[in-house]
Amino acid sequence: MTREPPADVSLYQQPSYWDKRFSDEEHYEWCKDYSHFRHLILQHVQPQDRVLELGCGNSRLSIDMFHDGITQITCTDLSPVAVKQMQQRLEAENCTGCCSVVSDVKTTVYAGSIVSLDL
Ligand SMILES: C[S@@+](CC[C@H](N)C(=O)[O-])C[C@H]1O[C@@H](n2cnc3c(N)ncnc32)[C@H](O)[C@@H]1O
Repeated sequence: MTREPPADVSLYQQPSYWDKRFSDEEHYEWCKDYSHFRHLILQHVQPQDRVLELGCGNSRLSIDMFHDGITQITCTDLSPVAVKQMQQRLEAENCTGCCSVVSDVKTTVYAGSIVSLDL
């Protein structure tokens, strides 16, 4: 389902906008799905790399990467609803080594040697 953007796009900065949206949206890819990036990701990311996904939303990117052998992925998002749903999805798909945490990219300091993907 494609949604109209909110009248005030500054709402995109509010966790409450995303919480409400993710409460009734199971899956949506804002860019294209993994199959379009797979060749680039597998070229540049090694199975032993640790990956930090910023603003994971309800994308399948991390799960698809996991099934391709990239197993150490931390999914982050500003929205607690997105993070909870992602954690449930990771567990349901047996993505051992992956986790999902609430994090604001504007205020979080990330430790070194993490490959960052996504927006
Ligand atoms: C345009 S959606 C993209 C979702 C997903 N990456 C995709 O490609 O389908 C932006 C996501 O970033 C999250 N987000 C917005 N501001 C953020 C911030 N300051 N820190 C972390 N996540 C944020 C939103 O909750 C939302 O899930």
